[in-house]
Amino acid sequence: MKKHLCIMAGDGIGPEIMSQGLRVLDKIAEKFGHEFTKEEVLIGGIAIDKTGSPLPDATVEACKKADAVLLGAVGGPQWDTIDPAIRPEKGLLGIRKALGLFANLRPARLFPELAGACLLRPDIVKDGLDLMVVRELTGGIYFGKPAGVEVRDGKRVGYNTMIYNEDEVRRIAHIAFKAAMKRKKKVCSVDKANVLDVSRLWREIILEVAKEYPEVELSHLYVDNAAMQLVRDPSQFDVIVTSNLFGDILSDEASVITGSIGMLASASLGNEYAGLYEPIHGSAPDIAGQGKANPLATILSIAMMLLHEFDLEKEALCIENAVRKTLQDGYRTGDIMEEGKILCNTTEITDRVIERL
Ligand code: IPM
Ligand code: MG
Repeated sequence: MKKHLCIMAGDGIGPEIMSQGLRVLDKIAEKFGHEFTKEEVLIGGIAIDKTGSPLPDATVEACKKADAVLLGAVGGPQWDTIDPAIRPEKGLLGIRKALGLFANLRPARLFPELAGACLLRPDIVKDGLDLMVVRELTGGIYFGKPAGVEVRDGKRVGYNTMIYNEDEVRRIAHIAFKAAMKRKKKVCSVDKANVLDVSRLWREIILEVAKEYPEVELSHLYVDNAAMQLVRDPSQFDVIVTSNLFGDILSDEASVITGSIGMLASASLGNEYAGLYEPIHGSAPDIAGQGKANPLATILSIAMMLLHEFDLEKEALCIENAVRKTLQDGYRTGDIMEEGKILCNTTEITDRVIERL
């Protein structure tokens, strides 16, 4: 198979983890006889520094032509004080919108090898933790208009609009139900329908779509309760489907309680263009350039790309198994280090994975 990839390493630890991830991809290409051509493009802070924009047009054009897009991370303290209209995060939101990536799949699972790193008591996670947040990614309060800061009657006011139309809810609902059909056949839709009108519509549409998936067990939770249930009894969840803002918050919560946010991958998918694959964690400016970053989430994002974008199941499994084996053999980066294990830097742990492919 021959595929063309757009690579956006981004800021902070982004370049370090991306270069290691690509070493794994090259090895897979060699082993299974594929060819992946790569084009590096700018996004985020580095794009601001080099071009004045967090999302140059050339980046959007290149991504639209690619067969898949890989992203490291964006942002850092040096861009915190610039004009909010061109913050690094705008690059990320912009590329999601430009590519129509409305569905964000964020699996959170507890790797048995890393159970010691889990933030919850062993009795709470005795049944494991393996869920997927399906977050709506191009609508809701992130993009709703009107939005702004202005002066009204001599007072500064700030406002955003949480808005969904029925089609936006319907298409993300289908993604969630289809994902559940391949998993434990449970969907929990999270909203705030006791307060928000937008959530009442959300729930209505979810109920409509559910009729097409009679095998899937559907439940609803208000977002505050969902946040609580995630730490109280996370094994009750299979697929959680929710809006952009609630999904942003709940996916951080779900991933961090596994204790291994440095291990978790994500996919952002649309209809028109190729998907974008990235680790869940951020740019970690505090450890950038020190060789301390954990590249495993990026490596697993590449596995997710091979599976979702190119249907290369064997290749994806090969990477996942190599990562598992690396952990089983006791190799760790600093973020998941435990007593008695072997501490590796970013390159070393990738070496261990490559040996096990
Ligand atoms: C995420 C991040 C982004 C978001 C930021 C960096 C814009 O938190 O991908 O979850 O809020 O969507
Ligand atoms: Mg977030």
